[in-house]
Amino acid sequence: YLEQSLRPQNLAQYIGQDKVKENLKVFIEAAKMRSETLDHVLLYGPPGLGKTTLATIIAGEMGVNIRTTSGPAIERPGDLAAILTALEPGDVLFIDEIHRLQRSIEEVLYPAMEDFCLDIVIGKGSTARSVRLDLPPFTLVGATTRVGLLTAPLRDRFGVLSRLEYYTESQLANIVERTAEILAIGIETEGALEIARRSRGTPRIANRLLRRVRDFAQVIGENSISNLLANDALERLQVDRLGLDHIDHKLLLGIIEKFRGGPVGIDTISATIGEESHTIEDVYEPYLLQIGFLQRTPRGRIVTELVYKHFQMEVPET
Ligand code: ADE
Repeated sequence: YLEQSLRPQNLAQYIGQDKVKENLKVFIEAAKMRSETLDHVLLYGPPGLGKTTLATIIAGEMGVNIRTTSGPAIERPGDLAAILTALEPGDVLFIDEIHRLQRSIEEVLYPAMEDFCLDIVIGKGSTARSVRLDLPPFTLVGATTRVGLLTAPLRDRFGVLSRLEYYTESQLANIVERTAEILAIGIETEGALEIARRSRGTPRIANRLLRRVRDFAQVIGENSISNLLANDALERLQVDRLGLDHIDHKLLLGIIEKFRGGPVGIDTISATIGEESHTIEDVYEPYLLQIGFLQRTPRGRIVTELVYKHFQMEVPET
């Protein structure tokens, strides 16, 4: 529950994502003024940027309860029907990894989102008939790392589409300082910045690194994290100056050493380094693309000059 208490509880406490936050604030206020439920919201972007946190905050700001589930957890249309019929008026239904919903289940969701009703088929064959069931009005908050995998009809039923972006260094440093205060560990500005720099633009990573650095501090009897201490601890954790870890290294060096820098297909990379191709695509690649270390071409991924320079390798002739 510590993880839970670290999370900001309302929009005012939430650092970063300023555009998304400002817009949501307006939509929430307007819905409240009209005593309506908030329109359905789709949050998308790389993992660890605060989609679940925002969903919880949306419910809190609307003053309603949140019911949480995920695409893969809903196995049958009946599972979704059970969740929908148990909602209280105005509730937020949060579906994480919504791109992983089965088609047959998506079809239950369409009338639920659009008209707050459920079409249930009773019986089989020639005696089958459809019954319409009213649902309480609710707000669906969907989250996905892969908005491109959503079907158009599902995507089109969200009134608010918000893309979360990687955080800046100073936003991450602020988050690290906030978390340090909650964890009751001292931290110097330069210590927070060092952790921020190595967190790949991602609060979840920043908070995880802070906890590990705190462990090092605690064991040597330091009650405040300096830049030196943070640097030292992060080196030991094998998190490099840009926040790349041994899997990023394996991925980049694998492309260089086995495929002369690419292009190489994702499945080939996956087989070579022994990581799931989905994990590579959802977790590792987005940041490497963002910092310009990887490029996607029709023939596969290629590493850029920046990678050779980062590893102090000679840039090959082209
Ligand atoms: N902890 C994790 N993400 C955060 C954020 N965006 N703002 C404040 N604290 C956080």
